[in-house]
Order: sequence, then C-alpha cells, then structure tokens
Amino acid sequence: MAAYDLVVIGTGPGGYVCAVRAAQLGMKVAVVEKNATLGGTCLNVGCMPSKALLHASEMFEEAAHSFAKMGITVPAPKLDLPSMMDFKQQGIDGNVKGVEFLMRKNKIDVIYGTGKIVSAGKVEVSGDGKTQAVETKNIVIATGSDIAQLKGIEIDERRIVSSTGALSLDKVPASLLIVGAGVIGLELGSVWQRLGAKVTVVEFLDRILPGMDGEIARQFQRILEKQGFAFKLGAKVTGVDTTGKKLVALIEPAAGGQAQSMEADVVLVCIGRVPYTNGLGLKEAGVALDNRGRVQIDRHFSTSVKGIYAIGDVVAGPMLAHKAEDEGVACAEIIAGRAGHVNYDVIPGVVYTTPEVSSVGKTEEELKQAGVAYTSGKFPFTANGRSKVNQTTDGFVKVLADAKTDRVLGVHIIGIEAGEMIHEAAVLMEFGGSAEDLARTCHAHPTRSEAIKEAALAVGKRAIHM
Ligand code: FAD
Ligand code: NAI
Repeated sequence: MAAYDLVVIGTGPGGYVCAVRAAQLGMKVAVVEKNATLGGTCLNVGCMPSKALLHASEMFEEAAHSFAKMGITVPAPKLDLPSMMDFKQQGIDGNVKGVEFLMRKNKIDVIYGTGKIVSAGKVEVSGDGKTQAVETKNIVIATGSDIAQLKGIEIDERRIVSSTGALSLDKVPASLLIVGAGVIGLELGSVWQRLGAKVTVVEFLDRILPGMDGEIARQFQRILEKQGFAFKLGAKVTGVDTTGKKLVALIEPAAGGQAQSMEADVVLVCIGRVPYTNGLGLKEAGVALDNRGRVQIDRHFSTSVKGIYAIGDVVAGPMLAHKAEDEGVACAEIIAGRAGHVNYDVIPGVVYTTPEVSSVGKTEEELKQAGVAYTSGKFPFTANGRSKVNQTTDGFVKVLADAKTDRVLGVHIIGIEAGEMIHEAAVLMEFGGSAEDLARTCHAHPTRSEAIKEAALAVGKRAIHM
C-alpha cells in the first residue's frame, strides 16, 4: 500500500497550500523541497523580500521628502543598508517558520531533497548523498519557475543580477540599468531609486507593464519619470562589457539599428520567468509539456499521466502567488473527489510601487480586441477628499462595464493602496455584479475606496464629486 495519498513536489505558495488543503480533506500528505527552507520563490526570493524592501525604502523616502510638509522636522535620514537587509531577512524567516508550523499542524511530512518522478505513484528524493523512494497515490508538481536569461549576458548575481541578486545588493549602486519594464523591474527599480540609485529601464516594447491597461501604464510611466526613472522604450540590451570598473551595456533599437552604449554599476535582468522542470524526470515518466516548456494540464490540473497533477508557475497562466495558491486548493479538492475550481477571469494583479497599480478583469485593449461594446467610468484621486487631505492625489480608478448589461468587466486603479482596494471589485465580479451595484453600495467616508464608487457612478455619467 502507498505510504501517502499525495506527494507534492515544491513548497512554494502553490505546493504548501495544496498540501494543507489536502490534509484538511483527510489525506496523508508529504511535501518534497530541494531548498533548505520552505516557501518557494515567493517567500525566499520573491514576493516577501521584495515587499519588505519596498516598505522600508518607502519609509526612507517619506522621511526624507514628505515629513517636512506635514510639519514634522527630522534630520535627513541616513541609510543603514545592512540593517535594512536584516529587516528583510526577519520577514522572510518569520514567514518560512509559518509554513513549517502549518506543515506540523496539518501532520504533513516534509522531505528535504530533489524530487524526481519515476512513474505515476513513485517519487525518488535525492539529497545529502542519499536517495529514497516514496510511494504515493497522487503526485502534484508545484516546482514553480526560474529566471529567464538574456542570451550572451551572464548573470553573476553581483554586478549583473537577477531579481535574486537585486534583493541583496551590498551597496546602493550609483547607476542601475534595468532590462525589462515589467513588474520586477519597476518594483525593484523603485527600491534602489528611493535609496539613491539613478535608474534607467530598457524595455523591448513601446510601453511599460505589458498586459496592464494601456492608459494606466502611460500615466504610471509619467509618475515614475517624475520620481526620477528614465525609460528607453522600444530598445534592447544586446551585450554587457564587464571588463572595466563600470559595466558598459550596448543598447539597440528593438527593430535593430545603431547601438548606443551606456555605463552602469549594476545591470538587473528581469525579462520574465520560465517554468522550472529541471531534473524532474518528466520525459521519462511521460508527462507532456506544452510548446513553451510548461507542464500541460487539463482543466482539472491533470497532466498527461493519470495520478500526476501540476499547478502554479510551472503551468500556463499568470505567474502569481495567489493564482498558484488557488490552483493548489482546487487541485487538492479535485483529488479528494470534490469540485475544485479557479475563476481565471477574476485574478487580481498588483504592482507594489508608490503609487500602486492594481487591476482585475479585462483591459480596454482586450475588450476592443474581443469586439465587446463597453462603457468606461473614471474618477481621479485629485477629486477624492481623503487623498486631498493626505496630499497623495496621483492616479485614478477606471471601471469598465458591458454596454448592454452594465456587468463590470474590468477595474483598473493607479493610486496609493490600490492593491488593497482592488478586492471589492474582485468580489463584485465573482458575483456577476454591475456598475450600478457598485455605485449603489454605501462606501465609508472619507476613504480612498470612495473613488471606486465614484468611477462606477461615472459609468452612468453621474459621478458626484467631479
Ligand atoms: P515557487 O514559489 O517557485 O516554488 C517552487 C518550489 O519548488 C521551490 O521551493 C523549489 O525549490 C521547489 N522545487 C523545484 N523543483 C524541485 C524538485 N525537483 N524537487 C523538490 N523541490 C523542487 N507574485 C505575487 O503574486 N505577488 C508578488 O508580489 C510577487 N512578487 C515577486 C517578486 C519577485 C522578485 C519574484 C521573482 C516573483 C514574485 N512573484 C509575486 C511571483 C511568485 O513568486 C510566484 O508566482 C510564486 O512563487 C509561484 O508559486 P509556485 O508554488 O508555483 O512556485
Ligand atoms: P514581466 O513579464 O512582468 O516583464 C518582463 C518585461 O521584459 C516585459 O515588459 C518584456 O516586454 C520585457 N522584455 C523581454 N525581453 C526583453 C529584452 N530582451 N529587452 C528588453 N526588454 C525585454 O517579467 P518580470 O518583471 O521578470 O517578472 C516575472 C514574473 O514575476 C511576472 O510574470 C510577474 O507575474 C511575477 N511578479 C509579480 C509581482 C507582483 O505580482 N507584484 C512582482 C514581481 C514579479
């Protein structure tokens, strides 16, 4: 008889959440993790450390530039980078310990080592010079993703860094060149820009944050430029000369043409992430991949081999921790014979900069492309009372609703705390709510969330404060 009902390979937000839900449903569960700590990319080198540094650097920036206007006089703040890094590490440790606690609480066995699938029902775990075979009724692959590399540019995690190195620099670079104006580039660029680096972002496309609503991205770019970011759009970095004291990057127009060189102390390469399946033995086990190297699954998270499932960054869809978690829950429920489900139309996305950018549902570009007739209601934070008194008026809320039915199809926000505000839109959309429903829901005053209600009112051309 198999020792386990379920073995989950990988303990990121997808894997550990899947394990907890399966244990709640009465399964005997083990997780396999090749790293020394649990929690995956998110807890160790992703969401959590980046948010700790974003918070700390924002406080530094506030103390330097915002306190005086509120009548708080303090000496110019000094940066103690090692202590800031300790603050970050304490946050990581606290969260990792939290996952260890959840494993114990739910009686989930933790097996440290690299997992390899031998066949359905059998996982081999190697580590510390030993190999053990683990028998199980079901296997979930939750091995996540890895950094995408740029051809010809070698990441040394010292001067040419990925997000991992950029979370642990030992001094503030005078100049930071970022390749890729996606989420990582703008979040980690913000951290180092606030701490004193001159940040230049080179982006292949003619816009930042591809996938986000275009109008939001344009306004966000202007706000970042005011903060000191420089952007080179429609351009690519084709090489970095590492021989001198300063790095020299070659930057070419995306379409090809005359290259320009630019000096930098540190280059951050963040051009996306790729599914991680190294050493898992998928080919031998007969588990099919799609044309982008992701584990292929059906809508029940089942791979091409019965009894083997996959979730999170290693499968298709947005590479987000909460998407991985929800897939983990749904997958465990399906294995237990229940009706697990993820609504991919309502997955919020947040960029944790200042101001934040958040979004759920369709963008205007997506609606236009799909030929959906829609109405749009917008409300700027300059007209929101709470934002005015706090003097944080950058940004706006946009509500997109179906022109015929008024059903909300997408909500996009740029503004302070936008990441917290997006969830009322997500709940509304889960219930198939309309802009009218949102507009008639009483919102506490004075809150920034009133701007969402006003944007919903603006869909019907009847915003009050504008
Ligand atoms: P992962 O978290 O990548 O975990 C996979 C685990 O599997 C790892 O621990 C790995 O060691 C283990 N593993 C792999 N192969 C094996 C094997 N053969 N045997 C045993 N173990 C194995 N997302 C957000 O939603 N919000 C954010 O703010 C956010 N910020 C981010 C910031 C950065 C800098 C980065 C890089 C990513 C960020 N992300 C964020 C993305 C988020 O981290 C991922 O979407 C999420 O971690 C995916 O979860 P996962 O469980 O699929 O995989
Ligand atoms: P990304 O996909 O968000 O952005 C990569 C950017 O690089 C794109 O704008 C792309 O056009 C550009 N690019 C690609 N090749 C290029 C080249 N050769 N030269 C110049 N530009 C190039 O990827 P990123 O920022 O690396 O993040 C990886 C993943 O991590 C994302 O999918 C994201 O979902 C996740 N993440 C999420 C966060 C959040 O939710 N707040 C924070 C950080 C990461």
